[in-house]
Amino acid sequence: MAVIKIRNTGEIIKGHENVLSFLEKQGVLYEHWDISKLPDRLKEKFVLTDEEKEEILTIFKEEIEDLAARRGYKTWDVVALSDATPNLDELLKKFEQVHVHTEDEVRAITAGHGIFIIKGDKETGYFDVELEAGDVISVPEGNPHFFTLMEDRQVVAVRLFIDPSGWVAHPYEEKEEVIK
Ligand SMILES: [Fe+2]
Repeated sequence: MAVIKIRNTGEIIKGHENVLSFLEKQGVLYEHWDISKLPDRLKEKFVLTDEEKEEILTIFKEEIEDLAARRGYKTWDVVALSDATPNLDELLKKFEQVHVHTEDEVRAITAGHGIFIIKGDKETGYFDVELEAGDVISVPEGNPHFFTLMEDRQVVAVRLFIDPSGWVAHPYEEKEEVIK
């Protein structure tokens, strides 16, 4: 289950209902998929063949189509990041800059971990959402955020788009002290 850390106050929010209600207030969609549907060999595999990516999409076909129908997503794929990814450090440097997109950023984690750092309302400021396998998140269109990996430095996620061109990152100027 996801864990929230509010950067200003150090407050930690745990437990499905608490996380759900906090994210709901911030306009961030949060859901959970049953990760036990995934065969064990795909739970700890971070270099995937095209066939394995297709297999993941087939296993979660119902969940993907349900989410897509509710939210208007039209296309989806699987992304895998790990130390085996060429230029992982360079990619992370890019991901770690605050930015916005012209559509939702939707990620369903199927293995490993990831953190979205999202700009909340005025009172809350930036908060971390630490995600594990089964967690599904949608960062709203135009909402400043950035992404990074956790200590395990590996993740597999299903991405859903209205149009993949919407994922182009537009830099968002923020004072450093607001983010930290
Ligand atoms: Fe993003």
